[in-house]
Amino acid sequence: MKNDEFIVVRLEGVHKESEDTTTLTIPYDLNSKPGQFVMLWLPGKGEKPISISGEKDGKFQITICAIGSFSEAVSKLRKGDKIGFRGPFGTHYTIPKESTSLAMVGGGYGSAPLAYLAEQAALGGKKVYFIEGARTKSRLLFSERMKISGAVLLTCTDDGSEGPKCYSPDVLKDLLENHKIDKVFSCGPEIMMKRVVEISQNAGIPSEISMERYMKCGIGVCGQCCVDELGLCMCKEGPIISGELALKIREFGSYTRGSTGKKSEL
Ligand code: FES
Repeated sequence: MKNDEFIVVRLEGVHKESEDTTTLTIPYDLNSKPGQFVMLWLPGKGEKPISISGEKDGKFQITICAIGSFSEAVSKLRKGDKIGFRGPFGTHYTIPKESTSLAMVGGGYGSAPLAYLAEQAALGGKKVYFIEGARTKSRLLFSERMKISGAVLLTCTDDGSEGPKCYSPDVLKDLLENHKIDKVFSCGPEIMMKRVVEISQNAGIPSEISMERYMKCGIGVCGQCCVDELGLCMCKEGPIISGELALKIREFGSYTRGSTGKKSEL
């Protein structure tokens, strides 16, 4: 099968992660890697790129937050409903072979691909520090999964309802000052990821982040997801890029573009 062909299957499971975030289990052997995405299709609603939040035993998962008409419709799906997709697409996170300790920094539902990465890293014998920040306790995701994987879970919230009242880059800074970490991975709001890259760079530690842009084709043809001013296509040369490269992209942490190409500040 070519990965740009549509596959339609029936959902095997639907799990509510929080009030507005849902994980769907799709019975298909995608052979994905953490950080990659699928183009998800819903009849009458169109197609959107969605990060893969896990894959094992011939099934993969996606986690979606209901923040627009497409994601709200996906969130209402039930077990047995049909769903279409193509993929996997894009670059993936890379765990250095010789590494022993890794830090992952997620914000909100941006933690989804990191949960997949943390599980794979822990299975490979790496020590994983999983830092997760959210506005409030009820929005923290994947805590149980991370505990089962053996990762060290470090949570923080904007309102102090769980863990320290601070932002996840602050927790990273503290971690890097007190532990030997070989690489930092991040996914979430770009302003947060920019701080994560800067903190890692100041500590002399390599990092990788997920830079998502509005996508149409998902396969490097339409140019919709190209970023200023290097012209990289984030669907093909991203979404996972090194922190070093991210800092060379003018719009990183600053602005993005919608379906018409119009800029919007982050
Ligand atoms: S979405 Fe078409 S080139 Fe990336």
